[in-house]
Amino acid sequence: MRIGTIALAASTLLFAATASAGGHGAAAATPDFSGITHGRQAGMRMSGALMGSMKAAVARGDDVKTQSFAARTLQGWAKSVPGMFPEGSNQGETSALPAIWSDWAGFQAASDAYLAAATKLATAAQAGDKDAFSAALGEVAARCSGCHAKYKIM
Ligand code: HEC
Repeated sequence: MRIGTIALAASTLLFAATASAGGHGAAAATPDFSGITHGRQAGMRMSGALMGSMKAAVARGDDVKTQSFAARTLQGWAKSVPGMFPEGSNQGETSALPAIWSDWAGFQAASDAYLAAATKLATAAQAGDKDAFSAALGEVAARCSGCHAKYKIM
């Protein structure tokens, strides 16, 4: 009788521990991605601002070396893009399409192509090569819209 009571108490404790672990598990399965979502949207808008200022510099006929910092910043951002889209982060206010996760290889390829174009841009700026810089700028712009067409709500 007494042993039965202890066993019952022990199994109750075990159940409580399992239930609370289950609770933590459920919380970890639905993390709050709002910081990442806002961060990637801000990064995307900043990349738009950089594109605008670099285009204006070309139109003014500036030495493209003056755009080295902007181009390197864009390159650094391009490197971070896939990591800004963790699985499950299409909640709340976002225009990220579910296709990002159902076609991760395609999204990764779009990110890689973007990074390759941004790297050309940074190299051309560093070298002060205006023609290569203009060409790379056009290539980067095509990568922006190419990815949006497939993976972003327009
Ligand atoms: C590899 C894919 C990809 C590339 C490349 C890319 N974007 Fe995006 N962009 C997205 C996705 C996905 C979103 C939606 C993000 C969200 O709302 O969570 C987005 C959102 C945006 C937004 C809206 C942000 C907001 O306020 O909600 C702007 C502006 C933007 N991108 C500009 C650019 C520019 C400019 C480039 C190129 C220099 C670029 N993007 C390259 C995928 C990409």
